[in-house]
Amino acid sequence: MNIVIFGPPGAGKGTQSNLIVKKFNLHQLSTGELLRKEIKDKTDLGLQIFSIINSGNLVSDEIVGNLIEKYISNNTYKNRLIFDGYPRNLIQVRYLDKLLKKYDQKIDVVLKLSVGLEVIKKRISERKNVEMRADDNEKIAIKRYEMYENNIKPIIDFYKQSNLLKVVNGEATIDEINSEISGLIESIKG
Ligand code: AP5
Ligand code: MG
Repeated sequence: MNIVIFGPPGAGKGTQSNLIVKKFNLHQLSTGELLRKEIKDKTDLGLQIFSIINSGNLVSDEIVGNLIEKYISNNTYKNRLIFDGYPRNLIQVRYLDKLLKKYDQKIDVVLKLSVGLEVIKKRISERKNVEMRADDNEKIAIKRYEMYENNIKPIIDFYKQSNLLKVVNGEATIDEINSEISGLIESIKG
């Protein structure tokens, strides 16, 4: 089973992915986390993307496309991936579709976590003190939210058409959301 989880910054993509991977023996593929690791390790790529991420803009489709192909092409993760934060625009939606076909896989469900801006601001300001993410200040969080809003529509349309989209209320408690998502996955697994 391959799953896409998307939603605005602070929606709980990482939190829920983390719970789901343990329960269903999947592998979490967070493009944001992979990119932050490149920055932390001061790789060439990390130096290249540092200012883009910290201003709340999107890294190039090519860079993230290369990152995800490493996982999709790896047999260890075959049909065990949860895509957290990818795809983020229509180009990425199409690229993911193409890559999965190339490696004889598919998406089984797309989860959209819906959360409003006020809740997002609160969560990001709380997380700021815990995780020390450089992009976690209110101004950049709003920018990330706007980037999300600007790109969301074609993604929703695409996955609605292929009948994969499930909308989840991301403002419920972590446990409630986890139960709902687990139920959805169980029902798809059959
Ligand atoms: P990314 O790392 O994906 O950041 P994001 O989309 O802004 O989302 P977050 O990680 O901030 O939030 P989340 O939804 O994971 O929430 P979390 O579970 O942590 O991307 C960062 C950057 O990398 C992008 O801006 C871009 O530059 C680049 N990038 C990444 N992917 C890319 C791509 N595909 N293309 C191009 N560029 C890309 O939860 C947030 C907080 O809320 C936590 O403290 C948590 O404990 C709390 N919380 C979670 N759920 C609940 C709940 N239900 N109730 C109360 N609190 C909750
Ligand atoms: Mg995250």
